[in-house]
Amino acid sequence: MFLKNAWYVAAWSKDVGRDLLGRILLNEYVVLYRKEDGTPVALENRCPHRNLPLSEGRLIGDEIECGYHGMVYDCAGACTHLPGSAEPPDWATVRTFPVVERHGWVFYWPGDPALADEATIPDYPKHNLDEDWIRAQGQTYVKAGYRLVLDNLLDLSHLTYVHGSTTGNRAVAEAANLSVDQEGDNVRVTRWMEDIEPALAFREYAGYTNNIDRWQMSQFLPPAYININNGSVDAGIGADTDTRNNDQGKWGFVVYHAMTPETDTTTHQFWTVAGHKDKVPDHMRDLFVEQMHGVLKEDLDIYEAQQRAIDMDPAAPNRDANPRGTIPADEGLLAMRRTLRRLYGDEQKAEGVAAE
Ligand code: FES
Ligand SMILES: [Fe+2]
Repeated sequence: MFLKNAWYVAAWSKDVGRDLLGRILLNEYVVLYRKEDGTPVALENRCPHRNLPLSEGRLIGDEIECGYHGMVYDCAGACTHLPGSAEPPDWATVRTFPVVERHGWVFYWPGDPALADEATIPDYPKHNLDEDWIRAQGQTYVKAGYRLVLDNLLDLSHLTYVHGSTTGNRAVAEAANLSVDQEGDNVRVTRWMEDIEPALAFREYAGYTNNIDRWQMSQFLPPAYININNGSVDAGIGADTDTRNNDQGKWGFVVYHAMTPETDTTTHQFWTVAGHKDKVPDHMRDLFVEQMHGVLKEDLDIYEAQQRAIDMDPAAPNRDANPRGTIPADEGLLAMRRTLRRLYGDEQKAEGVAAE
């Protein structure tokens, strides 16, 4: 179940260049490259002649020459040359995908090109963070379905059990006031913790010795984007809604994730975790980056292990639609899954109508 009429991150901008990059996205094989003027291009990665991936060929100017029998395709997917023939055959066309470059990412649109509206690319105002931010960034290949990754990011009680050596401690799971708001297709999960013990990273970076008020704001934007604002202040100071959404208080960090399904059970996870330089002392910058990569690896181990268990018994209980078997902390991820099912149903319905 993938929404097709949506923008997904296909690659970090830095990874798309004059080498042909073949990548499976949403169960389709796509080839990415840049034209000579720098514009990114995405085509189906399949020669219509005998199915060789075009990424096995070579770029000539803005065109791809297939690596098997030399047919040439332009960036609009038209065949411009068949060796030994005056005219290319009319059946030889390659599907193209709308592409937009923004926020250091190359986005592509796998659905109906006529519906691709750049205005619906999620606005990640802080993702293009300037040099005032210490960034850990990466692309993680996940052997798990993308919704398991979204689940993880919409229930941050897991910090207690998965990230106990850095950002989690017992209070995060035990003492949070949880609220979930849905605005249109966006889901926002607020976790607000008053007068709790600071987790280790909060003591190390901010020097807390006493209790703190702490917040975690996770926001989901379809099809698969998450941004999280984490903050804290000395206990009793508190934080208003605007602060909780946008500010890190005395110590915290921001998190941006874009999940692009590769297949039903594998995912490309593009991510940034960043702390403002005022909150990450110079001598701790390398440690911050190293720790945040470590946190991502801890999560990876969890959702890959879940996927292995699901693969072994695909009939195992699916709790999405059954309130028995869910826990209060699931509220945000259940709202996300409901939203995706609704949007998918709408998309299927619209396709059915169009096909009639
Ligand atoms: S497979 Fe590409 S030209 Fe034959
Ligand atoms: Fe995590």
